[in-house]
Amino acid sequence: MDSQLALLQDEVREAIARIAHAESLELFRVTYLGKKGKLTLQMQRLKDLAPEERRAFGADVNRLKNEVQQAFDAKTAEISRPNASRDSVDHTLPGLRPPVGRLHPITQTIREISAIFGRLGFESVTGPEIETEFHNFTALNIPPDHASRDDVDTFYTESGHLLRTQTSTVQVRVMKSRKPPLRVIAPGRVYRPDTVDASHSFMFHQIEGLMVDGETTFAELKGTLYLFLKEFFGPKTKVRFRPHFFPFTEPSVEVDISWGSRGWLEILGAGSVNPRVFDAAGYDSKRVQGFAFGLGVERIAMLRHGIDDIRHFYENDLRFLEQF
Ligand code: DAH
Repeated sequence: MDSQLALLQDEVREAIARIAHAESLELFRVTYLGKKGKLTLQMQRLKDLAPEERRAFGADVNRLKNEVQQAFDAKTAEISRPNASRDSVDHTLPGLRPPVGRLHPITQTIREISAIFGRLGFESVTGPEIETEFHNFTALNIPPDHASRDDVDTFYTESGHLLRTQTSTVQVRVMKSRKPPLRVIAPGRVYRPDTVDASHSFMFHQIEGLMVDGETTFAELKGTLYLFLKEFFGPKTKVRFRPHFFPFTEPSVEVDISWGSRGWLEILGAGSVNPRVFDAAGYDSKRVQGFAFGLGVERIAMLRHGIDDIRHFYENDLRFLEQF
């Protein structure tokens, strides 16, 4: 055997016998079998040898290479095999606790609100986020020249659909597909071209509420919202109704709650369903009455938990999420 090759043979046999763990296995592979490994370099000597030497050298180097590869494979298998007889496992150590997932604070808030309304007989329903102008605007008594319809005021698709700006769309969808009486809430995402900051996001969540029956008074709206707000924020919560305007309700209010030193905080919009909405949805506005309300989930969750920046909800930072 060629003397260089004979030296390498001794070296490599010794080296493989010494391997005890995965790291040295990899080091061995690079040193001997890799692209620039010692065995590979020997193979490359082949072309420089005289033709009469080539045959014997070629056979030797190939045999060595196979031997080393086999030994290497066997070592790899040995090292990766869990071996109870080796005391590498300490059975007395405590186990690793797997991380346990939990519901996102927005999901928790939606579920909590839905549960309260559920006890008042409101069923939870959903509608699509990609909507028609009819459901988002026209049916809700928002005329074509209304400013909120501006192209720049929401996200339109090329087919003329849009990302809904409010969950009030679901009012119309539910009324088109069901007969009165109705008691539903509709949680979901809405989209607005708002510049993102601590209190604004281009996407956030709302919960819409709708009750329709033969006679449904404003007093029932007030009673329902009182019950909900005191249940959610605590029995001492003070509630205030302020006149406001929404196209789809008449009369309309904004509802505030007292919030310690911060005074009154607006918490939701509501009102008696505008008869025009009933007409657009195919209900007989002479025979039914109803009330509707809409609230922002992020805002309520922020108040409830003292969260100061809406962006925390969407960053998926475990340090934030694990607090809920
Ligand atoms: N859709 C309104 C908004 O996005 C919220 C709202 C106000 C919903 C009054 C209602 C309502 O159902 O009656 O600002």
